[in-house]
Amino acid sequence: MRRYLSAVAVGLFLTACSYGATEDRIYRPPGVAAAEDADGGEELYLRDCAWCHGRDGTGTARGPEILTGTNGPAFMDFVLSTGRMPLDDPDERMVRGETIYSEEEIDELVAYVESLGTEGPDIPTLALEDVDLSHGMVLYQENCAACHSTTGVGGALTEGTATTDGGPGRRRIVVPPVTKSTPLEVAEAIRVGPGTMPVFNEDVFDDEDLAAIVAYVEYLKNPDDRGGASVGRIGPVVEGAIGWFVGLGVLLVFIRWIGTKRGDE
Ligand code: HEC
Ligand code: HEC
Repeated sequence: MRRYLSAVAVGLFLTACSYGATEDRIYRPPGVAAAEDADGGEELYLRDCAWCHGRDGTGTARGPEILTGTNGPAFMDFVLSTGRMPLDDPDERMVRGETIYSEEEIDELVAYVESLGTEGPDIPTLALEDVDLSHGMVLYQENCAACHSTTGVGGALTEGTATTDGGPGRRRIVVPPVTKSTPLEVAEAIRVGPGTMPVFNEDVFDDEDLAAIVAYVEYLKNPDDRGGASVGRIGPVVEGAIGWFVGLGVLLVFIRWIGTKRGDE
């Protein structure tokens, strides 16, 4: 009897666990749920994006239009491959995450939204051989470091919200690190300017400049730390603090150790 009961208990427990496991699909409001296994860009778009961005990409109260400005293949590819879209909730901010799509699905979605008539740039082609890394460094330090920090680890931009119509869920703007992006994502971010990031088009950086910056960001993922430990590469305050507490601490202990107290002689 007892064995029977414990088997039932285990069974119930396992069902309870698997109940939650089916709930990891992306959220869609009632009535919007469409075919689960969407096939091709149009079906994917209608299933996952249309309820916020509109059937034709012109936007709804839940999401902005995605046709004008720098919206286009590069921007679409960027938001999909960095997992920024789709959101589960219109009040969420778009942040980097795991993408829910395969490369093929991303290509199909990009092509479909482009067919709705977008204005923005194409997915850039990068020629990363023979780039001038030091040129890339200069451009990066002049144009990107102010926000993403000299080492690329990111930082805080401002308190408050990016948009004046920001809903209650909008949090303060944090600049993400650049070092998690693939070379193509870096190039796309530069060309489209996601969120509050400025746009750097061909008039600002030609394709050679673009490749040089991308190559420098690649280098930042694995820089050789001359001068010792990197301590997170978040800058002089941390380095100073470690200098003070560790360095001076050791010195003080050492001085105590070699010194003698007055009267000890
Ligand atoms: C729950 C609603 C929602 C869903 C679903 C959604 N989006 Fe979005 N999307 C938004 C919101 C809100 C923003 C603005 C986010 C921000 O600025 O932080 C946005 C921004 C974007 C942008 C950038 C637009 C710009 O000019 O900044 C693109 C491109 C985009 N979405 C594409 C998509 C695609 C493709 C899908 C489907 C795979 C999708 N979105 C699904 C709400 C949604
Ligand atoms: C004014 C501040 C600012 C400047 C200058 C700036 N960025 Fe950004 N960047 C941002 C913000 C904010 C985001 C996040 C945008 C979003 O998704 O809402 C971002 C996103 C990115 C991303 C995507 C990172 C990720 O997590 O997926 C890359 C890559 C990037 N920037 C590279 C650059 C490069 C390279 C430059 C210089 C050419 C540059 N940025 C200049 C503010 C800035």
